[in-house]
Amino acid sequence: MSYFPRAGFCTLYVPRMLRSQKEGECACEFEQFSQVDPKRQCVVYCCGGTMLDVNKIRADFPILSRTVHGKPLAYLDNAATSQKPESVIRAMDDYYRRYNANVHRGVHALAEEATAAYEDARRKVSRFLHAASPREVVFVRNTTEAINLVALSWGRANVSAGDVVVLTMMEHHSNLVPWQLLAQATGARLEFIGLDPAGRLLLEDLDRLLIEFGGRIRLVGVSGMSNVLGTVNPVAEIAARAHQAGALCLVDGAQSVPHLPVDVPALGCDFLAFSGHKMLGPTGIGVLWARQELLNTMPPFMGGGEMIKSVHLRESEWADIPHKFEAGTPNVAHGIGLGAAVDYLTGLGMENVHAHEQALVAYALERLAQVPNLHIYGPPAGERGGIVTFNVMRDGELLIHPHDLASILDMEGIAIRAGHHCAQPLTEYYGVPATARASFYLYNTEEEVDRLVEALHKAQRVFGLE
Ligand SMILES: Cc1ncc(COP(=O)(O)O)c(C=O)c1O
Repeated sequence: MSYFPRAGFCTLYVPRMLRSQKEGECACEFEQFSQVDPKRQCVVYCCGGTMLDVNKIRADFPILSRTVHGKPLAYLDNAATSQKPESVIRAMDDYYRRYNANVHRGVHALAEEATAAYEDARRKVSRFLHAASPREVVFVRNTTEAINLVALSWGRANVSAGDVVVLTMMEHHSNLVPWQLLAQATGARLEFIGLDPAGRLLLEDLDRLLIEFGGRIRLVGVSGMSNVLGTVNPVAEIAARAHQAGALCLVDGAQSVPHLPVDVPALGCDFLAFSGHKMLGPTGIGVLWARQELLNTMPPFMGGGEMIKSVHLRESEWADIPHKFEAGTPNVAHGIGLGAAVDYLTGLGMENVHAHEQALVAYALERLAQVPNLHIYGPPAGERGGIVTFNVMRDGELLIHPHDLASILDMEGIAIRAGHHCAQPLTEYYGVPATARASFYLYNTEEEVDRLVEALHKAQRVFGLE
């Protein structure tokens, strides 16, 4: 039996379970090959099933071999957008070189090839989500457009004055502003689920709201994973509670779909929105998933070509789903690119992607805890995805502005993000103008985490803090 040092992570990790375990036992499905690390309770050495060959993966991403300011690139800004493997770049290049044509209407060979590839991408996404049918996959530009589609189409038809939309304190602006617009247009009100100090949702807030507003709650919108705190939210639980009160549940999957195995029937939500560019695919293509019965009841979002069955001067008949929601020439190349990204992720296995990131974030949290003056936001490893947001501060005062920190790290070749991360109410809640965020993906390594830690020490030396 061989162990890979610090290579795997128990996907069923729950701190309470591990505490009751003895060395050599593990709760994960690879128990015969697993061992609890006696020093670092949360890390489990696994052999087999959950392993990624990160060096091999890195070779698939051309950009990862470049340097920045003379240093090897350490790309830790994956929550903003991910890098693209050769196969995704090639799939789009191939479309433009060999069979570029508009889709759905042409009868010539190129149009048929383009349509087949584009619709094949939809089938791949559908399988990736375990959806009942590709008809449930609506191609949009990104998460933002998917949520606007729901707010404008479903929202205008189903939400009226006095109705309530429940969101959370940790939502990205994309899952906040469309609902503010809907509330302004209809007279509906917005209510919010708060957070505990570790950045977990307070589900008792949801229960209180469900009692207080009863049948007036039309929708509960929640991010699958916070893009700031990394918190993985109990979406299935939230969807079940929403349904009991007669409300629908929308999941903003921008951060969860690229990093966690997704099974829409198991999630139990009604809408799932996500972006291709955060999951190895290109920009300009995203997905709204919803059950067919629901999509069938919703009016079109935009009008024009592609979304109609027949058009007369004063009225028109809509195309069937999903085309009813896809007005105009679609982003064919990028749809095909997203299909290639799904192939790549499926080939690795989302359980393995998740396990790799869990191991990496546990390592990062452990190493960052040793950096002086570092305040880390969000829950412990095991309850979060591969996102670590922090500030250099003492007694509640920022010692280095996150933008300065990000600039110093950039000079070391390390790309992180600084700002409010499009979740301004959350930064307001924490009483800071901005935070710094490192976010990981399947190609990141412990060596890159070590470089991040070293660069944070260096930044503190620059500011005379160490
Ligand atoms: C949680 C979350 N929701 C929504 C979005 C918006 O994604 P996009 O800009 O691709 O529409 C992001 C992007 O960072 C995000 O992290």
